[in-house]
Amino acid sequence: MYQLIYVSSAVMNFARPEFMELALHTGARNVKFGITGMLVFKDGSFMQVLEGNEEIIKTLYAKIEVDPRHTLVSVIHEGEISMREYGSWAMTYFNHDTEQYDHIAYPTQVL
Ligand SMILES: Cc1cc2nc3c(=O)[nH]c(=O)nc-3n(C[C@H](O)[C@H](O)[C@H](O)COP(=O)(O)O)c2cc1C
Repeated sequence: MYQLIYVSSAVMNFARPEFMELALHTGARNVKFGITGMLVFKDGSFMQVLEGNEEIIKTLYAKIEVDPRHTLVSVIHEGEISMREYGSWAMTYFNHDTEQYDHIAYPTQVL
């Protein structure tokens, strides 16, 4: 089991619709590939925890790292873990209109 945690800065203005578009794609794919963890967005910054098969996580991170929607992608932690720390995949968006975190559910029927 492999875990990778990074932070990054959004390049574009990530309003809720843009985050939802990203969330809809990533959620279904991550579940399909057995990836658990979370993606959080607040004040222009992302924080993501990815855990799963080492090869799958490394392949995905190589894509994420060069994704033009964000920059300053910086790994906080990377390595083997004995067991998953997260039981599922979660996505959270800090909504400035309500001053609360919106927990985004992904469309499981896509799987
Ligand atoms: C902040 C951020 C987080 C992302 N997280 C994921 C993710 O968890 N899973 C995923 O499949 N793609 C994620 N992506 C999208 C990937 O960068 C990439 O666009 C996606 O994997 C599609 O790649 P492909 O169609 O070339 O295979 C993320 C993108 C950004 C900007």
